[in-house]
Amino acid sequence: MRPRLVKSQREMEGRFEDVWVLVDEDDDLETWAEGAELDVVGKPATRDDGLLRTSGAARYTVDIALPGMLHAQVLRAPVARCRVTGLDLEAARATPGVRAVLGPDGPFTMRGDAVLTAEPGWAGAPIAAVAADTPEAAAAGIAALSPELEALAPLELEAGLEEQRFTEEPRETVRGDPDGALDGAEVKVELTCETPAHVQTPLEPHAAVARWDGDSLTAWVSTQGMFDARRELAGRFGLGNEQVRVISEYIGGGFGAKQGAGVEALLAAELARAAGRPVHLALGRHEEQLVGGRRAWTRQTVTIGARRDGTLVGIEVAAVVAMGAAGWIFPVGEPALSLYACPNVRAMIFPVKTSLRAQNAFRAPGVVEGVTVLEQAMDELALALEMDPLELRRTNHIELDQGSGLPYSSKRLLACYDRAAELAGWAERDGLREASSDRLLRGMGCATQIWWGGGGPPAHATVRLDAQARALVTTGIQDIGTGTLTSARIVAAEELGLPLDRVVARGGDTAPNLYGPVAGGSMTTPAVMPAVRSAAGSVRRTLLSLAADVLEIAAADLTISGGRIRSRDGGLDVDVIEVTGKLGNATIDGSGARGPNPEGFRVNTFGCQIAQVAVDPGTGVVTVERVVAVHDVGRIVNPLAASSQAEGGVIQGIGYALCEELLTDPTTGIPVNGHLDDYKVPTIADVPEIVVDFVDVPDANLPNLGSKGLGEPPIVPTAAAIANAFAHATGRRAGALPLTPARVLEALA
Ligand code: MOS
Repeated sequence: MRPRLVKSQREMEGRFEDVWVLVDEDDDLETWAEGAELDVVGKPATRDDGLLRTSGAARYTVDIALPGMLHAQVLRAPVARCRVTGLDLEAARATPGVRAVLGPDGPFTMRGDAVLTAEPGWAGAPIAAVAADTPEAAAAGIAALSPELEALAPLELEAGLEEQRFTEEPRETVRGDPDGALDGAEVKVELTCETPAHVQTPLEPHAAVARWDGDSLTAWVSTQGMFDARRELAGRFGLGNEQVRVISEYIGGGFGAKQGAGVEALLAAELARAAGRPVHLALGRHEEQLVGGRRAWTRQTVTIGARRDGTLVGIEVAAVVAMGAAGWIFPVGEPALSLYACPNVRAMIFPVKTSLRAQNAFRAPGVVEGVTVLEQAMDELALALEMDPLELRRTNHIELDQGSGLPYSSKRLLACYDRAAELAGWAERDGLREASSDRLLRGMGCATQIWWGGGGPPAHATVRLDAQARALVTTGIQDIGTGTLTSARIVAAEELGLPLDRVVARGGDTAPNLYGPVAGGSMTTPAVMPAVRSAAGSVRRTLLSLAADVLEIAAADLTISGGRIRSRDGGLDVDVIEVTGKLGNATIDGSGARGPNPEGFRVNTFGCQIAQVAVDPGTGVVTVERVVAVHDVGRIVNPLAASSQAEGGVIQGIGYALCEELLTDPTTGIPVNGHLDDYKVPTIADVPEIVVDFVDVPDANLPNLGSKGLGEPPIVPTAAAIANAFAHATGRRAGALPLTPARVLEALA
């Protein structure tokens, strides 16, 4: 048995990458079969960090306080576009308490872009940074910079479209003959809808603390990707991986906005190096809302052609995306290409450059935007066909990925439709609307979810079992608030045959050098948990062979479960401590790695949500009364955490549908509602009854666990389901989300 390097494919939010993977034969465990009797996996478990987080005991990056630590602040562009013509760096350096000042003059870049710039292209862009003994002294240092600016006109969206001012070439993906298909379609609908700029709004803002010890750097970073942060910091300072330690123990949400080191960790490390003292840099709430990131505003026109029987013949999507200064182009056209069987599709994306910060990832980036409009157009088609909207979706079900031609590793979407319809009372849908009064209109709408979420290698884990029969799982997980460390305990406990309370799991630190991927792309569970199970499997095999020594019976005749070792003939039943107790200070150690992805499949997640809304035609207020969310993400490891994840996605989707919208003053290009009192995220008062269910069947083609990711799927269909429920209730579409009272009243007028 020797380690081997094999080639595999890894997926992150629909981007595929070939990677070399280090595998051990030991990593080859059989997937727990469908219906297998499991003791710990699939049983609801409260998560370890829940009490610590809610009681305030959890120490987030913003809470880190080190001896001699300085506080940093950033000078930001006060207008959307300008040229810095004067900056008094010397006055800032001479300010009492100021220990380091960085201006836009150094060769200081992140992913090719200047971190500090004298030519800001968006309101809030960093120009200079100051570290001082106290936050007040840092603020005084910032004030002393006295910037002189030459303001430039902001880049406006409609003019940008007119002038074809794009961040990169517009994208067009074509399959078949969409023009011919749409021209010849028996039934055709067209729908245009705008979707809002949506701010991730993590409860903990972006933050970093950096400390140098000689030429080694320790950075506490509120990040979804501590290993990416390590790589970026090592690259910036010319260090080896072993000279950089990134700690991300508790993270107050990221939702895509906290990738890698971020500007904050780079600035904190740079300032700490200049000052020779640790530096703390945390964004204030207004800064977070302004510069943390956002899902881009879009305007999409969707045209769908179908036969009279509901079979789709052609789809065209034209999406204008207000990118901001730059950014990834997210797959807004993907739902049109893959959600339903359709031979003729054209998806176009026009990425307009505007004066906002670069759009960045936000929970299922692109696909939320695409599904939100496509699924409204599907309901318009159902209306035109006088067909039940769910029936239309069932009619166009597809078993393979039409882009690659590959079959899905598993797809139980039809079961999701059935279960969601049952839980929502879909059969009573028209009765619900007919029971509406003049003062309250009720309706019910559905939408389908597709997303990736298969993850992939590499990911590594170790398990150490001690004399007290307690196991420590060490992983590269950074738990951004989802309970993934608890899932690691569950998977290890199952494989070890130990009760859950005998297992602890650690992550949030790069020091053990056990790589884990970014907590993004819905990949922590599918990427890391197979490695955890593999490490635990190695420990279990060693434990049974030691048990054979102690109990004088062949290892193959022994089983372990619930912390007891039993012989298969039933003659022997002892506590596992009978064996481990003889270890003294020795431990049983095992390591595991995520195996390669299966070849010849596409791994996707699927689901269906049904929303019930009440619309007050007098006030324009839309109330979501109930959301049913049924998803197929393979095997569920922890039903409690999974439900919680789904509820969170639905609540965030309600914000997208009803109230969240970053507004920009068109004349200045400056966001005007960058505070929590005017940027409206849903509160607990806005949360309806949310009914969550999972198909919960393992995907037999995925390595050793059969689980896919669940971070992103639940937000994908929510806004579309709500918009469709609104249309069902009122017979109108607003043409733009969110469905604020003003838009609703306009739509009803
Ligand atoms: Mo990505 S939006 O960080 O899952």
